[in-house]
Amino acid sequence: MPDRAAYPELQGAVPLSASSPALARALTPWTLGPLQLRNRVIKAATNEGMAIGMRPSQALVEHHRAIARGGAGLTTVAYCAVERDGRTFPDQLVLAPENLAALAVLTAAVHAEGGAVSAQITHGGAFNFLSEMEHGTVWSASGGLNPMGFLQGRLFKKAMTRAAMTQIRDAFVAGARLARQAGFDAVEIHMGHGYLLSQFLSPKYNHRKPPYGGDAAARARFPCEVLAAVRDAVGDTTGVACKLSMFERWSQRGQVDAALTVAQRLQASGAHLLVLSAGMNVEAPWAIFGSRLPPSATRGAGTLLLRAAGWMVQRQQPKIVYEDLYLLPSARQMRAGLSLPLAYLGGVRSVADIETVMREGFDAVVMGRALLHDPDLLRHFREGEVRRSGCTTCNECVGTMYGPAGTHCVLTQQGDVCLRRTPVLPPPDM
Ligand SMILES: Cc1cc2nc3c(=O)[nH]c(=O)nc-3n(C[C@H](O)[C@H](O)[C@H](O)COP(=O)(O)O)c2cc1C
Repeated sequence: MPDRAAYPELQGAVPLSASSPALARALTPWTLGPLQLRNRVIKAATNEGMAIGMRPSQALVEHHRAIARGGAGLTTVAYCAVERDGRTFPDQLVLAPENLAALAVLTAAVHAEGGAVSAQITHGGAFNFLSEMEHGTVWSASGGLNPMGFLQGRLFKKAMTRAAMTQIRDAFVAGARLARQAGFDAVEIHMGHGYLLSQFLSPKYNHRKPPYGGDAAARARFPCEVLAAVRDAVGDTTGVACKLSMFERWSQRGQVDAALTVAQRLQASGAHLLVLSAGMNVEAPWAIFGSRLPPSATRGAGTLLLRAAGWMVQRQQPKIVYEDLYLLPSARQMRAGLSLPLAYLGGVRSVADIETVMREGFDAVVMGRALLHDPDLLRHFREGEVRRSGCTTCNECVGTMYGPAGTHCVLTQQGDVCLRRTPVLPPPDM
């Protein structure tokens, strides 16, 4: 039976009707590129805040073990930077050879529970609050003032040169290869939310001339080159997904024409799956979450700059009332214009939501906060014990990313500071 703390309204188990073909479809095996998955439910990347420096902690292993034990087909390890300077915060995982054995412990833990695991491979570009950088250059699609680097003395971001583009494309390839070697079953190339590849896609960040700037197709060129190189390197054995924002600001809701053009290019470049998100971390984080963020979520890691940025974000938040499946209208438009597999993400909290997503023709369903609230949710759905997540979308989990225990639901979990501080120690034979 589910934990009563997670579901205060629960009166008693209601057996799940066998007459839900849509739910049954979500729970049956499917293939993601070369990968066989036990079902179509994916745990979204939710920055775990569980790296020590650049290395995985034992808390990260336990986090993903719990998700796999709860029955998700694929769990996503968030923000795996493809190089040191590609981190956003100092405590973020880097796909480097010294982490191979520790990452293999994580993937083995997920596999032992019958699940599969994906690495979200990414580079922050100008979205970077690092106090120290290896090379010191803040790359983005275009150069200019770099408000996020003011306190670090990095006042300007630089437009990527052709050499830098080749180097970072190769870093994505090396990261994907390392992930494969560590036992990851899939990689998710992060092209959304304002990170480097998203900076190329965004008209706000990309002011280049053709061939890498101009219209949406030209802005998609570098992300497509990265995708094609990753596909060539690991795509025969590894699922290759891309996550992108269908719109950047809440006010652009529904205006997904440019994103559709981008998605069509990604389809032609060989993506196995697109994960459809929205929003930008700085300009419109509420579009990611479909709801307002509490002060704890925008306070950042406590530096003056981040607190100032958080204050600005709080002031700019529109009055949004959360709705389940808040990205469905835009995702539907994408579904109509694409033939490759698509994963629906955004406000999936109930059996009814999963059924809707399946009926609308999406190939997979992605859940973030609902699985943070209860990693066993899917099992409870399957066994008919619960039909709706107890997540209140308070978004306090977002603030816990910066805390000593790492990301957790404040309603159902304590977080484990000790595990968060314990580095993963691979067994001697690894
Ligand atoms: C605590 C937290 C951290 C997140 N970190 C990431 C991240 O590292 N990468 C990413 O692509 N999305 C991140 N997201 C966004 C989620 O992947 C997802 O897009 C969002 O939560 C909406 O899905 P949901 O309604 O199922 O929660 C994060 C979300 C939460 C709640």
